[in-house]
Amino acid sequence: MSLFAALRLPREILFGKGQRAALGRVAARLGKRALICTDSRMSGSPVFQAMVADLEANGLTVHVDDQVLPDVPRDSAEACAERARSFAPDLVVGIGGGSCLDMAKCVSLLLSHGGSPADYYGENKIPGPVLPVVAVPTTAGTGSEVTPVAVLSDPDRLLKVGISSPYLVPQAAICDPELTMTCPASLTAIAGADALTHAIEAFMAKTREPSPELAQDHVFIGKSALTDHFALLAIELLSKSLERACSDGSDEVARADVMMGALAAGCAFGTAGTAAAHAIQYPIGALTHTAHGLGVATLLPYVMTFNSRSSGPELARIGISMGLDVGGLEPGAVADLVIGKIDALFSAVGIPRTLKDLGLPSDKRDWTAEQALGIERLVKNNPRSIDLAEMKELVTAAFDGRREAVV
Ligand SMILES: NC(=O)c1ccc[n+]([C@@H]2O[C@H](COP(=O)([O-])OP(=O)(O)OC[C@H]3O[C@@H](n4cnc5c(N)ncnc54)[C@H](O)[C@@H]3O)[C@@H](O)[C@H]2O)c1
Ligand SMILES: [Fe+2]
Repeated sequence: MSLFAALRLPREILFGKGQRAALGRVAARLGKRALICTDSRMSGSPVFQAMVADLEANGLTVHVDDQVLPDVPRDSAEACAERARSFAPDLVVGIGGGSCLDMAKCVSLLLSHGGSPADYYGENKIPGPVLPVVAVPTTAGTGSEVTPVAVLSDPDRLLKVGISSPYLVPQAAICDPELTMTCPASLTAIAGADALTHAIEAFMAKTREPSPELAQDHVFIGKSALTDHFALLAIELLSKSLERACSDGSDEVARADVMMGALAAGCAFGTAGTAAAHAIQYPIGALTHTAHGLGVATLLPYVMTFNSRSSGPELARIGISMGLDVGGLEPGAVADLVIGKIDALFSAVGIPRTLKDLGLPSDKRDWTAEQALGIERLVKNNPRSIDLAEMKELVTAAFDGRREAVV
């Protein structure tokens, strides 16, 4: 197949210690009236007050809405847009974890095109550009600062819902690892494991036939040369430094590596997409109410094992990025080494090993498999195609902790 790549990213990505102080100048190029979406933890902090002061010093009028809740309940997004309407922002700034960034994206959509979030669930349902969004993450994980996705929870639906459209890619992302220094070890682990799962699923995603329609008709389009580049950077940095960022949260070098890893993983999966681990997490999250990152990371070693027979070269390349010596090994031995290393890293940062440990009831395994298979945009991205019987085997292997059952 000839060389092919596609990539959709913000116009400006800033990364580095202290870069949050550029927010005012970046925002002033995009608008005059800034709505900030954040949560009450963040809005009370001096570091947040300094960012508001910087925006004002750069001539912006600022309105702070600090009601963001984890996992962005659908009605909270509508309520935030309603509260903001009389302020008439021309720019939305998200400051916080993935939930605050997703809220900023969703509110910018609702203020631009009206309606309610449910009108836009799915892929490519947004009719045109939205208010510019500047994303300032305070966790190192979701990659939402660069992705075309906003994830919400909807009380009328059991599974979480996503709005995916290139129009949702923020105009600017400002990633300052100092903002992650306050993340406790468990949040660092969960968010970082989500990021590593993004990078690996994007790198192992299916290669699609690169027709001119592919990137026009779909948001997630499978792996390609440029997404691979970002995915490998993410795998290298996260496998090197995630454990250290968890064991010593004051380690600035490890914090920066992990945040860069999360950003790079977002740059990869925002166009390539994720695959089976993320698909299976939809029903798992609904049943167990465990954090997204915990679920996808618990599933990743099983999904990698299932995919190993169709992804030998990718597994070897992942191993090299993780600093492993895979030279001269048979594909099966490479898979064992690489997946074993990921298993060890995840155990070291406290990721549960099985779906049983996550609290999945045994009699819900078949239902989980059926629901996961329904997340078509992710399942079709998996390098090895999966039918219902195989999905049931995969879920059962992850439930029992028996990777060898899906080789
Ligand atoms: N849009 C995307 O591309 C994308 C990708 C993956 C996940 N997600 C979604 O993102 C959400 C998860 O985001 P998250 O993992 O960043 O967590 P989060 O935004 O839900 O925040 C979790 C908690 O961490 C706190 N927190 C945030 N930053 C902190 C800091 N620096 N110090 C201390 N506490 C801090 C928050 O106040 C909150 O209580 C989920 O809804 C998930 O589905 C979105
Ligand atoms: Fe994720």
